[in-house]
Amino acid sequence: MILVTGGAGFIGANFVNDWLAQSDEPVINLDLLTYAGNPENLAALTNDPRHIFVHGDIGDTALLTRLLTEHQPRAILNFAAESHVDRSIHAPEDFVQTNVVGTFRLLEAVRTYWTGLPAEAKQAFRFLHVSTDEVYGSLAKTEPAFTETHRYEPNSPYSASKAASDHLVRAYHHTYGMPVLTTNCSNNYGPYHFPEKLIPLMIVNALAGKALPVYGDGQQIRDWLYVKDHCSAIRRVLEAGQVGEVYNVGGWNEKPNIEIVHTVCALLDGLRGRADSKSYTEQITYVTDRPGHDRRYAIDASKIERELGWKPAETFDTGIRKTVAWYLDNQDWVANVQSGSYRAWVEKNYAERAA
Ligand code: NAD
Ligand code: DAU
Repeated sequence: MILVTGGAGFIGANFVNDWLAQSDEPVINLDLLTYAGNPENLAALTNDPRHIFVHGDIGDTALLTRLLTEHQPRAILNFAAESHVDRSIHAPEDFVQTNVVGTFRLLEAVRTYWTGLPAEAKQAFRFLHVSTDEVYGSLAKTEPAFTETHRYEPNSPYSASKAASDHLVRAYHHTYGMPVLTTNCSNNYGPYHFPEKLIPLMIVNALAGKALPVYGDGQQIRDWLYVKDHCSAIRRVLEAGQVGEVYNVGGWNEKPNIEIVHTVCALLDGLRGRADSKSYTEQITYVTDRPGHDRRYAIDASKIERELGWKPAETFDTGIRKTVAWYLDNQDWVANVQSGSYRAWVEKNYAERAA
């Protein structure tokens, strides 16, 4: 079996759902169920004996040791993290705690377990660390996309904490020989995306008749990848990646934020237009920028294509249509995640951004 951490979050839940749709290999899913972790994302696996959910922290050494000893996984996939840049600006400590200290504790527990494995299992074992393109910092408009050898230049507490975790993972390979793999992926979108992030926030706010808050001039560029393509890349790296290597994962889909917002509005206009027949673009509001806002991310995903034969299945056009349709079809999920703590965050983040 495999052990997935953070498998109740956006990407982790998509990964676990996809994994068990394609394989009978069981998954232990360790998740702390922070505000971002949602058991509803795993509703399709209720009573499925192949899915063992464990509520707990990647920083809990005793729990990790027990799980590893009891279940003897052949691989660990580390998705667990604090993941939202704006939250890391308001309250960075949780990011250091989970992304740095948590990853360190996980690596330590895994090192002890891996060291004690019989030779064949030890050889076959993999620790796959799921990371982000944000560790590379920001690109100017004409600079080439991030390759795996781009220098680390994280700019937010979130990206700095992910960079630290990447360095620890690398060091555990270099120093102890642990069989690690790291993926650095661009911006994901798709089902189960928590509506604090750009695309789901725009869909949810548009339908609720609320402002669509665009930070700064809206010309920041992100490179978008449909989440299921990220999941297939991770499966491929786990299967065939070279131990100790880093793989950049991206969708070859660079777009300015304002274009993303217009695309979402146009799709909603077509699928569920406003009662007054005006476009949802009427709700776009420019607000105060994110401090230290990275201008552009772009991933050069040629290594993973060349060496492992992976490339995305979705274009942005097909992926965003599926995503908007998913949100329209899953209004209960949307209503349930907009709990009291969600409302408190939205108030805190946007109240101080004057339009
Ligand atoms: P998310 O915030 O939606 O989910 C994170 C999950 O981790 C949640 O289920 C949460 O409960 C869990 N978690 C948090 N702290 C934990 C702890 N201490 N112990 C156990 N579980 C804990 O995040 P996501 O968007 O699904 O991102 C998953 C991973 O992918 C992260 O490592 C993130 O850095 C990385 N990543 C995300 C993107 C993106 O666009 N969302 C892109 C590239 C990489
Ligand atoms: O690049 C990968 C990263 O993508 C992941 O590592 C992070 O976990 C993930 O959250 C994401 O980070 P971003 O900061 O790029 O994503 P976010 O959805 O928060 O913002 C996308 C862009 O949209 C960014 O330029 C900020 C802008 N934005 C965001 C929000 C929430 C707005 O203009 N308005 C908003 O209300």
